[in-house]
Amino acid sequence: MTVNRESKEKYEGLLKEAVKASKNAYAPYSDFKVGAALLSKNGKVFTGCNVENVSFGLSNCAERTAVFKAISEGVREFEAIAIYADIEEYISPCGACRQVLMEFNPGMIIICGCRDGSYKTKRLIELLPGAFMRKELQK
Ligand code: THU
Repeated sequence: MTVNRESKEKYEGLLKEAVKASKNAYAPYSDFKVGAALLSKNGKVFTGCNVENVSFGLSNCAERTAVFKAISEGVREFEAIAIYADIEEYISPCGACRQVLMEFNPGMIIICGCRDGSYKTKRLIELLPGAFMRKELQK
C-alpha cells in the first residue's frame, strides 16, 4: 500500500501508542505481549492489550480489547488500527479479530509493527476476503 506523508505520520504515531499499550499486556501463559491502538474517524485513539486467563480460551486479543473499549464509549467509526508485538516479523491480527474489525469498516487500515520499529500497512479487506457479512443474514 502506498502511504502519503500525512498518513505516514499518523500511522507512526498510532504505532507508538500500540507499543506503549503492549507493556500493559497480561500474558503470563504465552509471554507474548501485544498492543493495539485504534483510531476513530473523529480522531480519538483507543488502546488495548491482550488479557489472558488460566482458562486459556477466555483470553482476549489486544485488537478486540481496543474495539470493545471504543464501542463501550459510544464510538463506532474507525479509520485505522496499529498492532505491535516485540517480535522479529510483523504481527498480523488473528482471524477472530479480523472478523470483529470487519463489522465496523472493511476498508480500515491495519498497521502491523515489529521489534525494529518497522511496519507494513494493509487494508482489512485484503486480510479477510469473503468475510461473513451482515447481508448474509438476509433470509
Ligand atoms: N494475540 C493478540 O493479542 N493479538 C494478535 O493479533 C495475535 C495474538 C494474543 C493472544 C494471546 O494472548 C497471545 O497473543 C498469544 O497468542
